[in-house]
Amino acid sequence: MTHPLEQLRDEALREIGSAPDEQALESVRVKYLGKSGSVSAWGEQMKTLAKEEKPVIGKLLNDVRNAVTGAIEARAQQFRSQKESGALAKIDISLPGTPRDIGAVHPLTQMWERSIEIFRRMGFALADGPDVEDEWHCFDALNTPPEHPARNEQDTFYLPDGRLLRTHTSTVQIRTMRGAPPPIRVIAPGAAYRRDELDATHSPQFHQIEGLYVDENVSVADLKGTLEFFMRELFGADTAVEFRPHFFPFTEPSAEVDYSCFKCGGPGCRICKWSGWIELGGSGMVHPNVLRAANVDPEEFTGFAFGLGIDRTCARIYELDDIRLLFENDVRFLEQFR
Ligand code: FA5
Repeated sequence: MTHPLEQLRDEALREIGSAPDEQALESVRVKYLGKSGSVSAWGEQMKTLAKEEKPVIGKLLNDVRNAVTGAIEARAQQFRSQKESGALAKIDISLPGTPRDIGAVHPLTQMWERSIEIFRRMGFALADGPDVEDEWHCFDALNTPPEHPARNEQDTFYLPDGRLLRTHTSTVQIRTMRGAPPPIRVIAPGAAYRRDELDATHSPQFHQIEGLYVDENVSVADLKGTLEFFMRELFGADTAVEFRPHFFPFTEPSAEVDYSCFKCGGPGCRICKWSGWIELGGSGMVHPNVLRAANVDPEEFTGFAFGLGIDRTCARIYELDDIRLLFENDVRFLEQFR
């Protein structure tokens, strides 16, 4: 004979199985497991049972409670998954997705990263310095005293407190040498600022890569070898390199570095304007006064330095007639570099 508790269980399981929705299921739960529900009422009745009946009926009551609780949870889970698959069914996975506009690396950054990678292969570490500088790091320490005419050529923007925006990345030479003793082999890519009118080849803010190598017996041959390797990696193995004598207060001897035009090398060329050569930047052997200002003994150490203009070089590589294109952030221009 089935015990009334078992009948109660079967009845509850039937009702749970046929509950049409979550609300109906909740009513079934209250009916059987709620405070005054039928299963709970049996708990109360336990008190009135004979001693020997208590363990048997107690176990049965527990089994019934577990069976009903489990069945309710299983049915609730069924409702939840039905709901989820209903929501998913509304999504048509065969529809094309919404295209996302992914950006491109700016041509200047591409040029910058390529250059850093080449110098790193030659063992140059990265160095850095502030854009807002003082006159001493920008001029005096670089052997350019206040009355020196080079200060006019490289005139820059001054802050009310007398500080200035660095006119070249050469400031990092001083900061690096004062930061640690030789051997030093660093490049310092960064922004530079000058009071230049904005035109096709000039911008008041532009970018340079500074290079500095200071050690015992560093010679002009090391400078030439380093820049020749750099330019051949960047523009191709058959690139010719020319060192044109020049003047910089902070190097002696000094030279402008040119590379042979990668486009033509002859008349009619848009890139080199007929000369066959394109200027990359300035270079030279670090002046003894600069070494002294940076607490490096010129009797013990020599060094070379260079400062390469990135914007004009980048413009030439991509055959742009105007460096302003690099700063205007016109998406129609930039998206061509994807
Ligand atoms: C210098 O700035 C030196 N500090 C370079 C140097 C470093 C020489 C270490 C020796 C040793 P210069 O003024 O020539 O040199 O500038 C170097 C390059 O910066 C130029 O060849 C040019 O490519 C770029 N440049 C200069 N002014 C501008 C400007 N207004 N707009 C864009 N590029 C510029």
